[in-house]
Amino acid sequence: MKIAVLPGDGIGPEITEQAMRVLTALAGDGLSVEMETAPVGGAGYDSAGDPLPEATLRLCEQADGILFGAVGGPKYDTLPRAKRPEQGLLRLRKHFDLFANLRPAIVYPELAHASTLKDEVVAGLDLLILRELTGDIYFGQPRGVRTNENGEREGFDTMRYTEGEIRRIARLAFETARKRQRRVCSVDKANVLETTQFWRDVVTDAHQEFRDVELTHMYVDNAAMQLVRNPKQFDVIVTGNMFGDILSDEASMLTGSIGMLPSASLNARNFGMYEPIHGSAPDIAGKDVANPLATILSAAMLLRHSLGQEAAAQRVEGAVRKVLAQGFRTADIAEPGKRTVGTREMGDAVLAAL
Ligand code: NAI
Ligand code: MG
Repeated sequence: MKIAVLPGDGIGPEITEQAMRVLTALAGDGLSVEMETAPVGGAGYDSAGDPLPEATLRLCEQADGILFGAVGGPKYDTLPRAKRPEQGLLRLRKHFDLFANLRPAIVYPELAHASTLKDEVVAGLDLLILRELTGDIYFGQPRGVRTNENGEREGFDTMRYTEGEIRRIARLAFETARKRQRRVCSVDKANVLETTQFWRDVVTDAHQEFRDVELTHMYVDNAAMQLVRNPKQFDVIVTGNMFGDILSDEASMLTGSIGMLPSASLNARNFGMYEPIHGSAPDIAGKDVANPLATILSAAMLLRHSLGQEAAAQRVEGAVRKVLAQGFRTADIAEPGKRTVGTREMGDAVLAAL
């Protein structure tokens, strides 16, 4: 099996290196993964003048899955939009039609106190946010800034979803819930926005084929509140691109550190791109202090969703749990009495646990 590894910028190379070591170590189990790296984001701009060089895209097309680090940094902030590092990410999502963004938020028992919320609110939390990734107001046309009839300038974007786009993410939510607690909460703003009333209607209709799964609906403002009031009421949350962007960042903080959270972005044939939810962390880049666990857990999701290697995925996740139980902590999750380690040492610990 072939994996395209796109380390990107900032801490990207350090953290993807640890995930690659983990994938290599699995080879002993008869799992043969071939990995090839290619530049993306700022690294793509530096080497080829393009945040998504043609050769990088070709490599991804020939692979069974993509492991992505992070892109961006102050060095690139003044580039024109088309050359900016995040364009590499957006173009990959569009090119492969990666419409389903899975963001699990799991609180490991060892880290329950790391959350800014009370232990009893988050302990045992295991929720999955399923965010639609290729539609909504982020891509809807028309958009822009114009001068209206009164001669005043106005900005506008268009919220838009087709029935097919809603139906496919809804179906995936129900299918995913079947492997979990069989509960889906669809989040919208149906009381105010036409597009999201339509969303609610299509999700309700798609539910007809999944009557064994419980479906509830919630307005996004209430959902934002419920996520911090009682997050354990949720199993799978399915929502549109913009609401999902905001709610998934909110949910990430329930777990204590952004350095712990993986994600998967999948298309209809389960081809996917896997990446930690954090960015390139320029403030700590090159210092060997970044937490590589989100990237290692992203590799586990790759094994599960794109390579069909459930047992190997569980082994990696088990190894991560073990190093936390053994007391290994990177700086972002450091605590008194535990052993603070660097990026590479954390990788060593996961390899030893494997
Ligand atoms: P960030 O996620 O890079 O960093 C936020 C804070 O979390 C920083 O203090 C950082 O040190 C810390 N942090 C992040 N990952 C960590 C890890 N693995 N271990 C320990 N600490 C970690 O977000 P920020 O600072 O807003 O953005 C920095 C750059 O990353 C920008 O250029 C931004 O555009 C880009 N970015 C890229 C993303 C991607 O590639 N998917 C996503 C978000 C931001
Ligand atoms: Mg975001």
